[in-house]
Amino acid sequence: MSLESLAGRDLVSLLDFSPGEIRAILTLAAEAKANPGHYARALDGKTLFLYFEKPSLRTRVTFEAGMTQLGGHAIYYSASDGKIGVRESVEDVARNLDRWVDAAMCRTFRHELVADLARLSGIPVINGLTDRLHPCQALADYMTMAEVEEELAGKRLVYVGDGNNVAHSLMEAGAKLGVHVSVVTPEGFAPLDEVVRACRDAARETGATITVGTDLSLVEGADAVYTDVWASMGQESEAEARRRVFLPYQVNAALMRRAGPDAVFMHCLPAHRGDEVTDEVADSPQSVIFEQAENRLHAQKAVLLALIGTV
Ligand code: CP
Ligand code: NVA
Repeated sequence: MSLESLAGRDLVSLLDFSPGEIRAILTLAAEAKANPGHYARALDGKTLFLYFEKPSLRTRVTFEAGMTQLGGHAIYYSASDGKIGVRESVEDVARNLDRWVDAAMCRTFRHELVADLARLSGIPVINGLTDRLHPCQALADYMTMAEVEEELAGKRLVYVGDGNNVAHSLMEAGAKLGVHVSVVTPEGFAPLDEVVRACRDAARETGATITVGTDLSLVEGADAVYTDVWASMGQESEAEARRRVFLPYQVNAALMRRAGPDAVFMHCLPAHRGDEVTDEVADSPQSVIFEQAENRLHAQKAVLLALIGTV
């Protein structure tokens, strides 16, 4: 029932989906991972447009490979080919895309650009990361956590570092899945208040809790410790200043010991090893970072199947 309701929809924020819809995507992702052959022709003749204003390894390759594995095709188009809203209005781009392709994935600086494309076009628009959110990453992350934990509801994920796009989407998806999410940042780098408030509202339905703080003791007893770069794409000029502020929040062996031996270590990648995470942690048996990267492929195949509406 929940998959049917996703056909033709956009994925801009995971708060737009119900808990049942997110669970249905994760179930389909696990099924597509276990039986890839079953979906090999599911998107036969379908085309996905990929728009990037920022660099990418995982998002680009997993969406392109995912479309190939589903029998469809992806077209990569970067801002240097023609910036949406600059070379041509957002509305006209949306109306052109409607005539040619079956879905679009967009990675932009301004979150509103993806929201506008979704509103103005009739095809499903998928957020491939904005300055505010990274929903496809969070889907892959909770899929990975579910492979370790079996039942996600009631588990604790503690994100340590910058209260950024990845932290926001982990809170949004966690709220919908009943996962208790804590975001621990240096003073002044907390997630946006409005995102925290919206996640707490969503969490009422599932019993999840959303905690924001600066105290690293929040990692104690975590099921997952998660970090991301201290300076995101577009913040490169702040990297040096941020390094000094964030160093106490590095995820190293001492911090993982405070979490406990059963905690997994998670990172969306790319990692700046030696900054937000040490090699020792990234390459430890507790680390699931390459499982997360693999699951981008499976989670996004499920998103494409559900939104293009062939399952
Ligand atoms: N995690 C992630 O989105 O990686 P890329 O920036 O390489 O796509
Ligand atoms: N927060 C990072 C995530 C990269 C996948 C960034 O926006 O650069």
